[in-house]
Amino acid sequence: MRVLVTGAAGMLGQAVMPALAAGGHAALGLDLPELDVTRLESLRGALRDFRPDQVLHLAAFTRVDDCEAQPDEAFRVNGDGARNVALAAAEAGAAVLAVSTDYVFDGTATQPYLESDAARPRSVYGASKWAGEQAVREVHPRHAIVRTSWLFGPGGPNFVDTIVARARAGQPLRVVDDQRGSPTFTGDLAQGLLRLAACGATGTYHCTNTGDCTWYDLAAYVVGRAGLQVPLERTDTASFPRPAKRPAYSVLGNAAFEQKTGWRMPAWRDAVDRHLAATAGGTGRNP
Ligand SMILES: NC(=O)c1ccc[n+]([C@@H]2O[C@H](COP(=O)([O-])OP(=O)(O)OC[C@H]3O[C@@H](n4cnc5c(N)ncnc54)[C@H](OP(=O)(O)O)[C@@H]3O)[C@@H](O)[C@H]2O)c1
Repeated sequence: MRVLVTGAAGMLGQAVMPALAAGGHAALGLDLPELDVTRLESLRGALRDFRPDQVLHLAAFTRVDDCEAQPDEAFRVNGDGARNVALAAAEAGAAVLAVSTDYVFDGTATQPYLESDAARPRSVYGASKWAGEQAVREVHPRHAIVRTSWLFGPGGPNFVDTIVARARAGQPLRVVDDQRGSPTFTGDLAQGLLRLAACGATGTYHCTNTGDCTWYDLAAYVVGRAGLQVPLERTDTASFPRPAKRPAYSVLGNAAFEQKTGWRMPAWRDAVDRHLAATAGGTGRNP
C-alpha cells in the first residue's frame, strides 16, 4: 500500500511509521507544521503529490483538559480536520482510516461497548472526536473509524511512563480506582490498524488491548513490574477533580475487529511488560 499518515509525529504515529516500513509499505508521515489538517488545500496538495491508496488519520488535539478551555480549537482540529482529511482522501480515490476514542461514550455501561452503542460524549474532547467521526462517515463511503483507549507507548506523555517517573522519584501515588477501561499499547494498535487497512475494512471498529482494569490497577501493575517501592493509594474521581469529565466505564468490545482481521489484540499486562522492557522501565535504569 501507499499510505499517507496525518499526526505522524505523535505518540501513535511514532509506532505506526516503523510498522508501515516493516510491512514493506510506501509511507509518508506528515504533521504540523508541514501539514495542518484544518487546511483543506494543503491536504489536497499532499494527496495529489503522494497519491496514497490509504490515509491513516491520527492527527488530533488530544489534551483532553485543554479542550474544555478551547472548544473552538478542539472542534476545528478534531471535527473539521477529520472532515477535511476524509474529503481530500475521497477526492484522491484513497480509503481513509480515522482513529477515534472511548470518550465518545458516557461511561454508564456495565459491559463492553459495541460499535453500535449510542455515543454520548461528556467532554469537549469526546464531542469533538464524535463530530469528526460523523463527518468522516458523511463525506467518504470508503472509511474505517477505529476507536481505541488509554494509549501508552514511547515518544509521548502517557500514564504508564508518568507512573514510572513519579515512582522512581519516590513520590507517593494516589490513583483513581473508579474509572475502568483498557490500556492499549501503541505498537499493538499500529498492528491492528494495518491489519484493518490491509483487508479493506470499512465501518466502525473498536481496537484495544484485551482485558480491562482501573487506573489504580494499572498503576499497581506498572509499579510492581518496574520493581519500584512506593506508597500507592486508591482515590476516586470525586476527590481528584479535572476540567474534563471522564467516562467511569469505557471498555470497548473488540469482537468486530477480531472477526474482520482474524487477530486478537494481546492482553494489556503483556503489552505493559513489553513497553517497560523496551523503555528500560522494568530494569530501574533511566530510559
Ligand atoms: N492518547 C490516548 O490515550 C488516546 C486514546 C484514544 C484515542 N486516541 C486518538 O489516537 C490518535 C493519536 O493519539 P496520540 O496519543 O498519538 O496523540 P498525540 O501524541 O497528541 O499525536 C497527535 C499528533 O497530531 C498533531 N496535530 C495536532 N493538531 C494538528 C493539526 N491541526 N494538523 C496536523 N497535525 C496536528 C499533534 O501535534 P502537536 O503535538 O504539535 O499538537 C501530534 O503530533 C488521536 O486521534 C487521538 O484522538 C488517543
